[in-house]
Amino acid sequence: MTKENWLIYGANGYTGQLVVEEALHRGHRPILAGRSKEKIEPIANRTGLEYVVADPADTGSLKKALSGVGLIFNAAGPFIHTSTPIIKACLEYGIHYTDITGEIPVFQNIFSYDSQAKQKGIVLMPGIGFDVIPTDCLALYVAEHVPGAVELELAFAGLGHISPGTMKTMVEMIPGGGMVRRDGRLTSYPLGRGAKKVLFPDGEHTVIPILWGDLETAYHSTGVKNITTSMAYPDFMIPFLPAGISIMQKLFASKTIQRLAQKMIGMTVKGPGKDARERDRSYVWARAADGKGNEKQAWLDIPETYLFTAVASVLTIEKIFELHPKGALTPAMAFGSGFVLNINGVKRYDKLPG
Ligand SMILES: NC(=O)c1ccc[n+]([C@@H]2O[C@H](COP(=O)([O-])OP(=O)(O)OC[C@H]3O[C@@H](n4cnc5c(N)ncnc54)[C@H](OP(=O)(O)O)[C@@H]3O)[C@@H](O)[C@H]2O)c1
Repeated sequence: MTKENWLIYGANGYTGQLVVEEALHRGHRPILAGRSKEKIEPIANRTGLEYVVADPADTGSLKKALSGVGLIFNAAGPFIHTSTPIIKACLEYGIHYTDITGEIPVFQNIFSYDSQAKQKGIVLMPGIGFDVIPTDCLALYVAEHVPGAVELELAFAGLGHISPGTMKTMVEMIPGGGMVRRDGRLTSYPLGRGAKKVLFPDGEHTVIPILWGDLETAYHSTGVKNITTSMAYPDFMIPFLPAGISIMQKLFASKTIQRLAQKMIGMTVKGPGKDARERDRSYVWARAADGKGNEKQAWLDIPETYLFTAVASVLTIEKIFELHPKGALTPAMAFGSGFVLNINGVKRYDKLPG
């Protein structure tokens, strides 16, 4: 296990704190960082870890924070507001960059720095949490079984309770609407439509296409040109989704309502507690097809999404220090489709039991 020098930016957030706990559990001593001394200092006092205060908007403070650091783990989302200055600093000082984004424009931006990252000998690896490690690895796994695959479907069930940052990020993305990938291009798709039944390890769920990071990452990992990413919803919600989402899209298009919603979320949403994190499970399904009758399906049964994110993030950071991949890469591109199986509590099925 590596004890390399790395930094957690956004260490005071819900997910940042889970990653701090997991890092300590694995014997790491990461530097804590965030934009607010009042929020970071108590965590440093409780854990005995060093801390630094820096703001991505202030290049000087960022430069100081990153001095002597080998890797940064960015947990400060929505990442559309934090990732670019941090990545630019990482490229300038030769520091590996990781985050837990699921935002398509952030992935696109990061992949555009691939050759610069290679030249610098660093890796830029966004999406090292629930979004996108399980779906990315399973997408590559099914695509490996269907040479020349032209279609890839990914779906997950069991998102359960969500954290404040996840909800803020979702609310920011709602006005943009839904998308799928067709013939290699991201194409608009009406949110709330296209329901279908999918069998998961815990039974059948109704899934609906949503905007998910794999529309970008799985395209890079597998090269498949038609990708749909879906999420399970409770059956009673399905008939109301198209109208409900359309109202939310109109509502959240207003900057004032966005600001109000973000503030309310910050005050009221707490994220899953320890019991839920240890009890709940999530499920992923992937299907690749070549359009000539050949197809492959597979499933993952994984721990609750935030517990998964904390464990997977630290394991990915250890793997980066061990293998030193270079360029802008997805987790599956760097470590292979089997990487997700190294994460404690993950099971993969080629056929569902029973
Ligand atoms: N990939 C995955 O599977 C996965 C899993 C979990 C979370 N996430 C994502 O991770 C992000 C964080 O989620 P969370 O629930 O942990 O959020 P949270 O509890 O709201 O914490 C957000 C953290 O980001 C910081 N931050 C936000 N905007 C910032 C900005 N403009 N400049 C500097 N710092 C900023 C916050 O600092 P202050 O406290 O000072 O505001 C805080 O430290 C979200 O985007 C979420 O969608 C992804």
